[in-house]
Amino acid sequence: HPHSHPRHPRARTMLPLLLLLLATAHGLEKLDYKPQLASPDLGGLKTISTFVLEQPRCHFKSYPNADIWLVVATSKAVPNFNNSVGPGTPERAFQRFPTNASAYMTLNTTFLNYPCTKPSGEITVLRVGSETSCAKDMARPTCNGPLPGPGPYRVKFLALEGSEPVAETYWSDAITLKTAQQPSSIPTTGSRHGPGMIALTTILSILFAILLAGLVAMLVFWGSDACGGSSTFTKPEAVSVRRYNTHHVYDQPAARL
Ligand SMILES: *[C@@H]1O[C@H](CO)[C@@H](O)[C@H](O)[C@H]1NC(C)=O
Ligand SMILES: *[C@@H]1O[C@H](CO)[C@@H](O)[C@H](O)[C@H]1NC(C)=O
Ligand SMILES: *[C@@H]1O[C@H](CO)[C@@H](O)[C@H](O)[C@H]1NC(C)=O
Repeated sequence: HPHSHPRHPRARTMLPLLLLLLATAHGLEKLDYKPQLASPDLGGLKTISTFVLEQPRCHFKSYPNADIWLVVATSKAVPNFNNSVGPGTPERAFQRFPTNASAYMTLNTTFLNYPCTKPSGEITVLRVGSETSCAKDMARPTCNGPLPGPGPYRVKFLALEGSEPVAETYWSDAITLKTAQQPSSIPTTGSRHGPGMIALTTILSILFAILLAGLVAMLVFWGSDACGGSSTFTKPEAVSVRRYNTHHVYDQPAARL
């Protein structure tokens, strides 16, 4: 008791001071939210060029006038990310990502679109990479275009008031997309075995064709010998009957050769 009493007032003055220091040092609030991929029961969660995120609902309620941007960065760009580089600049242009811009900013919206109450029945997700029309249009650097590769990418939401960053979420975990290169690894091994496989297949099909031709020829000879008609093909009993004449059949082609 004698210890706890003097501590309380001090803690009360220290905490806001500390927060103020932090706020002025960073210039923006770190929101306790990490962007999440949408629940996997939504079909086609990740494709080779898109992924689906949960909306950051309610988290920006203190910033009703801010523009909330989605930042998509390569994993490598995250440690040195500069929040002051504005959306729409060449360093944040989708068309230059990821070679000449390490991140891009897209899906500009406000808190109005990320309200706290979830309207029932409405799908409250964001599909990143869904806009194909502006993907090559340098005049639209904030395009939500198809992602240029499997990644890995990391995303966060950044709220700007004017050009001033005021709040941000944490970065998401690394997001790796499905890769179109995986099936192409089969052709590379396939090309190694390719010619051999093709030769083998060709030989086998030729052999099979010869065998089939021989069989047909045999059946024709057989048929003409045993019954003298094409009706042999329709009667299964006729086949078993003809088995007794095998010695005769072997004689036939030999005689012809
Ligand atoms: C971040 O970007 C702003 C605007 O381009 C620039 O003035 C500032 O120097 C950059 N900060 C760092 C640490 O690179
Ligand atoms: C990056 O910049 C170089 C040189 O300016 C250019 O040749 C290249 O096409 C650019 N790449 C992208 C993805 O914009
Ligand atoms: C972002 O969106 C807001 C409203 O939707 C708009 O007023 C603003 O001009 C947009 N900013 C940019 C850079 O596109």
